[in-house]
Amino acid sequence: MAASTPPTSFPKSEIKVLLLENVHPSAHEIFQRDGVQIEVVPRALKEDELAAKLSEGVHLLGIRSKTRVTAKALEAGKRLLGVGAFCIGTNQIDLDAANKLGIPCFNAPFSNTRSVAELVICEIIMLSRRLGDRSREVHEGRWRKVAAGAHEVRGKTVGIVGYGHIGSQVGVLAEAIGMRVVFHDVRPTLPMGNNRMALGLDGLLAESDFVTLHVPETPSTKNMLGKEQIAKMKDGAMLLNLSRGTVVDVAAVAEAIRLGKLGGAALDVYPEEPEGNSDGFASPVCGLENVVLTPHIGGSTEEAQEAIGREVANTLAKFMNTGATTQAVNFPHVDLPPMAGSHRVLNVHRNVPGVLSDINRIVSERNGNVLAQFLATDPSIGYLVMDLDKEVANDVRRGIAELETSIKTRILY
Ligand code: NAI
Repeated sequence: MAASTPPTSFPKSEIKVLLLENVHPSAHEIFQRDGVQIEVVPRALKEDELAAKLSEGVHLLGIRSKTRVTAKALEAGKRLLGVGAFCIGTNQIDLDAANKLGIPCFNAPFSNTRSVAELVICEIIMLSRRLGDRSREVHEGRWRKVAAGAHEVRGKTVGIVGYGHIGSQVGVLAEAIGMRVVFHDVRPTLPMGNNRMALGLDGLLAESDFVTLHVPETPSTKNMLGKEQIAKMKDGAMLLNLSRGTVVDVAAVAEAIRLGKLGGAALDVYPEEPEGNSDGFASPVCGLENVVLTPHIGGSTEEAQEAIGREVANTLAKFMNTGATTQAVNFPHVDLPPMAGSHRVLNVHRNVPGVLSDINRIVSERNGNVLAQFLATDPSIGYLVMDLDKEVANDVRRGIAELETSIKTRILY
């Protein structure tokens, strides 16, 4: 990917990438193109196993959701430069420890956006045709051919709460099948196509035949759709939640379905979800009419897995080749375009006053000339990417690395 970036001073053939948990092959292709060493372990590693592996000199680690990357494992990875979570969540990584050790961690927050949006459209039609119930009846040997209560979605209004990546995709797709689209978001945002901003959440609830939630889990979204909000919806309207389980009061939804206030609901996420595949899931909505329940599969498609593989591998490769951290979840964001003929020094340091002046003093004492310099900080660390014009980069690196405030310092090229 980095044909335009100068060759790294450390030969790429000596960079070791460890990929665990069946990371999608789309990631391998990207690393192979870069000529690095790839070791694949098809399962999650326990803390001790991971620490032992990382201590063998791994530079980049790729995991999915099951490997816990603890402070102990990170500390064992003396050569570890970055971690890629080939999934959406990053709770399995001790992000704070990684930050303090100067190790950026990356994920793929948007690779499954389209998968979720497609399932929403599918479920809007399912609910409108009461497909879940009809299918169950036929499976059970019962033939119930009815038109009553079944509707086309053309001309109906879908209200999208949270008009971010997924919400706006839903808006585009819904419009393509002839639906009217209104949305509500806390931040001002550009409407797609003929999508229209609603008059607040209440306005959206009052005019929508379908309400679909696409907000993050935050204190402001906890139970944002409960009894009071359902009362403001049209009689017989349908509710979809494929965002986070805490956003909806499930007991209130069950009650509204029983009373016929809601005509149906589709839930993919729940306040409490089993940790792994298991039997015995229970929720107040189980068994109710025209309620479609799925086990948090909104983003689970092979296409999303492939996209995640590509996205995270590209992000790690870009970090390896240029030092860019703009996709990192635990690190100051820097993305300085590579400059031909320059030498790039990367430095992570403790965020205390005076570090930049110490570094610039070291450069000027060695007669180096700074061509470009970008420093970003968070409360605990600073990340500096600096391009120099003279062959003093190695000297400068050594000087900076010796600073008591430095955590990680390397020459990229
Ligand atoms: P995003 O960050 O792109 O969009 C979220 C939007 O919600 C933003 O525009 C934000 O301004 C808005 N928002 C935040 N608080 C709000 C409030 N109180 N009222 C109205 N709007 C508010 O997120 P993205 O990628 O669209 O994801 C949306 C949700 O879908 C997240 O909760 C995510 O975890 C979930 N998700 C679920 C998946 C599944 O498998 N079911 C897969 C992927 C994401």
